[in-house]
Amino acid sequence: MFLKRTVVAGLVLVRQVTAHDSNAIVVDGTSFALNGQGVSYLFHVDNTTGDLINDHFGGSVTGPIPQRDPSSDQRLGDWRTPAVRIRQTPGYTVSDFQYHSFERKSGKPELTGLPSTFGDDADVSTLVIHLYDKYSDVAADLTYSIFPKYDTITRSVSITNKGKGNITVEALASMSVDFPYEDLDMISLSGDWAREAHRQRRSVEYGLQGFGSSVGYSSHLHNPFLAIVDPTTTESSGEAWGFSLIYTGSFSASVEKGSQGFTRALIGFNPDQLSWPLAPGETLTSPEVVSVYSKDGIGGVSRKLHRLYRNNLIKSKFATSDRPPLLNSWEGLGFDYNQSTIEQLAKQSADLGVTMFVLDDGWFGDKYPRTDDNAGLGDWVPNPARFPNGIAPVVENITALKAANTSTALRFGIWMEPEMVNPNSSLYREHPDWVLHAGPYPRTERRNQLVLNVALPEVQEFIIESVSNILNSANISYVKWDNNRGMHETPSPTTDHQYMLGIYKVFNNLTTQFPDVLWKGCASGGGRFDAGVMQYFPQIWTSDDTDAVERITIQLGTSLAYPPSAMGAHLSAVPNQQTGRTIPVEFRGHVAMMGGSFGLELDPAKISEEDKAALPGLIALAKKVNPLILKGDQYRLSLPEDSNWPAVLFISEDGAQAVLFYFQINPLINHSVPWVKLQGLDPKAIYTVDGNQTYAGSTLMNIGLQFPFSTNYGSKVVFFEKQ
Ligand SMILES: *[C@@H]1O[C@H](CO)[C@@H](O)[C@H](O)[C@H]1NC(C)=O
Ligand SMILES: *[C@@H]1O[C@H](CO)[C@@H](O)[C@H](O)[C@H]1NC(C)=O
Ligand SMILES: *[C@@H]1O[C@H](CO)[C@@H](O)[C@H](O)[C@H]1NC(C)=O
Ligand SMILES: *[C@@H]1O[C@H](CO)[C@@H](O)[C@H](O)[C@H]1NC(C)=O
Ligand SMILES: *[C@@H]1O[C@H](CO)[C@@H](O)[C@H](O)[C@H]1NC(C)=O
Ligand SMILES: *[C@@H]1O[C@H](CO)[C@@H](O)[C@H](O)[C@H]1NC(C)=O
Ligand SMILES: *[C@@H]1O[C@H](CO)[C@@H](O)[C@H](O)[C@H]1NC(C)=O
Ligand SMILES: *[C@@H]1O[C@H](CO)[C@@H](O)[C@H](O)[C@H]1NC(C)=O
Ligand SMILES: *[C@@H]1O[C@H](CO)[C@@H](O)[C@H](O)[C@H]1NC(C)=O
Ligand SMILES: *[C@@H]1O[C@H](CO)[C@@H](O)[C@H](O)[C@H]1NC(C)=O
Repeated sequence: MFLKRTVVAGLVLVRQVTAHDSNAIVVDGTSFALNGQGVSYLFHVDNTTGDLINDHFGGSVTGPIPQRDPSSDQRLGDWRTPAVRIRQTPGYTVSDFQYHSFERKSGKPELTGLPSTFGDDADVSTLVIHLYDKYSDVAADLTYSIFPKYDTITRSVSITNKGKGNITVEALASMSVDFPYEDLDMISLSGDWAREAHRQRRSVEYGLQGFGSSVGYSSHLHNPFLAIVDPTTTESSGEAWGFSLIYTGSFSASVEKGSQGFTRALIGFNPDQLSWPLAPGETLTSPEVVSVYSKDGIGGVSRKLHRLYRNNLIKSKFATSDRPPLLNSWEGLGFDYNQSTIEQLAKQSADLGVTMFVLDDGWFGDKYPRTDDNAGLGDWVPNPARFPNGIAPVVENITALKAANTSTALRFGIWMEPEMVNPNSSLYREHPDWVLHAGPYPRTERRNQLVLNVALPEVQEFIIESVSNILNSANISYVKWDNNRGMHETPSPTTDHQYMLGIYKVFNNLTTQFPDVLWKGCASGGGRFDAGVMQYFPQIWTSDDTDAVERITIQLGTSLAYPPSAMGAHLSAVPNQQTGRTIPVEFRGHVAMMGGSFGLELDPAKISEEDKAALPGLIALAKKVNPLILKGDQYRLSLPEDSNWPAVLFISEDGAQAVLFYFQINPLINHSVPWVKLQGLDPKAIYTVDGNQTYAGSTLMNIGLQFPFSTNYGSKVVFFEKQ
């Protein structure tokens, strides 16, 4: 017997779903559907228990869905980790949230006090589900927003005490998603200082598995990003779900395969760092989680997240505008400088074509000058021995310089670490109570410094005032905001989150007051490379490890969740400070220019003549590729953990231009080299390769190109123009 099928040759009808579309949110009685171009998220209210039941999160569906096996409904009595745990007034921790009502909102309301994605009515629409526990008078609002263009659903949860007694929220996940029975893998980013964002993939096993941070910030150890994928999913094919938490504090991600085989994923506050009292009328709002679905593998999830974050998360006006190539004084001068050596370094930078000079640590401290890391943090006034007339005359001299062969003035940036204090400082002597500490317990020092308790309004005011004063004192157009240690002794279980609300208030204040400043986040490298910081700072230092081979792994790992536009990446001197390795300057430059903010981390006077001669050309190339890095779609063609030939392609959103970065790590003698097959091109279009050869997109994707190198550390940058 033949089944007759109608095939419309090669025609795929993709209906464009916008948030305006009534299809983006469909409510049928008490069944709810959020639909994107390629995603549906379905849930319904069980009409006997009032529970909210997850039906589907995956590829688009329409109309009724098959009834599930009733034995698969776990509901009450489900022993898996709960998304919320509230200690009620009498002391027990039982809750029974039942459906109450729903509300539709156009666009997306802001989350009070917390960073979140944003968008207008055409980008996004919102569904709020009101739940109520009638036994304890606690309300829970689940806010879902759908960005149809990016197949993205964001969610946050608010718990409100509507009763008469005090309650305590002891656990609150931003999201809890149930996957139907099937084998799954999970992917996370783990590492340590100078080894951030190493991709880990493991199969989800029975029981609980997960990761998180308890250091008070998102951390080098585990990034607040989780992917769940089918075991057969690759970079470029298969089902993949990505969950990115917009939060900079301690967090927890857990994945649990229950006894019956169903998998639940939770991400949100770290319950070990949360015990949040709610008096009558008070509300606790969770951070927002961004959930993305793709059928095009892990790369598909990443590209949707990148587009969303570039357009609907980063508030800076520099989100997608070209970044100035910069030179940072740290590697060249460290703590050892004065006005004239700084100006000399700035002059050398300008002569190489650099357009932003960044003065790093060591410029401040009056009574306790910051001439090493033992003193001065917290005293944000220029060191009078180094800058007798303040910072302004030096900035004037430096900004009068012009980048080589151009009329572009050199701009000036400055380093600060405003959340920290050395005990050896005027600030600590005046306000010993401003640091995080727990009563009489010893105050643990790291790098001779303590953490200011940014939960305190007076500390928030102090930071806003100190930073504003410096920025108002001279023409400073860039701030590198560092944060070099985690938290140890916190006075109360609410401090962690209160600190975050405080620092977001400070970030919001300063970035609103100084919108023309290019803000860069840093935390001993990538210790705070998260979507929370990104709302305010369009770029973040990716790692203190600048070894170019290590950096490929770190940058590609980081790109799982975050757009390359947000990555700071610098070409540093050799032998490399962290690994002792000597890699050719071109390779170092090519890796660094895959980050949105390219720069130099070296003293031009101390590098070889050959390397110095190569810098102007590499800076020019970095400027040329920058628009594609900032605004293009990234395809990780081959990963350093799988291959000796990592390769990355960036394609402009309109598909007209592309640039390929190709690397060979180890030497290969008398052996054929693999072909690198491109992705994401138009198969029928013709592309010019580096201005001479032309090939069809299909040829470039199905045959590919070959780049033979015999030595180690070979690298190549290739441009494609669509005709
Ligand atoms: C409850 O829902 C089920 C299935 O969705 C339906 O068959 C049944 O009629 C509903 N019962 C009531 C009381 O609405
Ligand atoms: C709730 O907590 C507040 C502040 O912690 C306290 O003043 C108040 O007495 C408490 N109320 C009840 C009913 O316990
Ligand atoms: C600045 O430092 C350089 C190098 O240490 C030294 O030669 C110079 O005299 C110093 N200038 C001033 C004004 O202290
Ligand atoms: C500036 O121009 C000179 C002369 O053409 C050239 O030698 C030098 O490399 C250029 N410098 C930069 C940074 O482009
Ligand atoms: C504090 O800093 C000053 C100035 O840098 C230094 O002379 C002094 O030795 C430091 N004191 C301590 C206790 O480290
Ligand atoms: C600025 O440059 C001028 C000219 O080179 C020099 O005389 C002056 O000392 C510099 N000013 C500062 C504050 O370094
Ligand atoms: C500050 O520097 C910027 C960038 O070079 C320049 O455009 C601006 O005019 C300067 N502002 C002042 C007040 O000098
Ligand atoms: C920033 O904080 C200062 C000091 O509290 C306040 O005066 C100012 O209005 C705030 N500005 C913004 C944009 O929040
Ligand atoms: C490759 O091997 C051939 C002999 O098989 C030899 O003649 C040639 O020099 C080798 N090439 C390199 C680059 O070592
Ligand atoms: C293509 O152009 C590059 C430089 O633009 C040159 O090095 C290369 O030899 C050319 N290739 C061909 C096949 O013409």
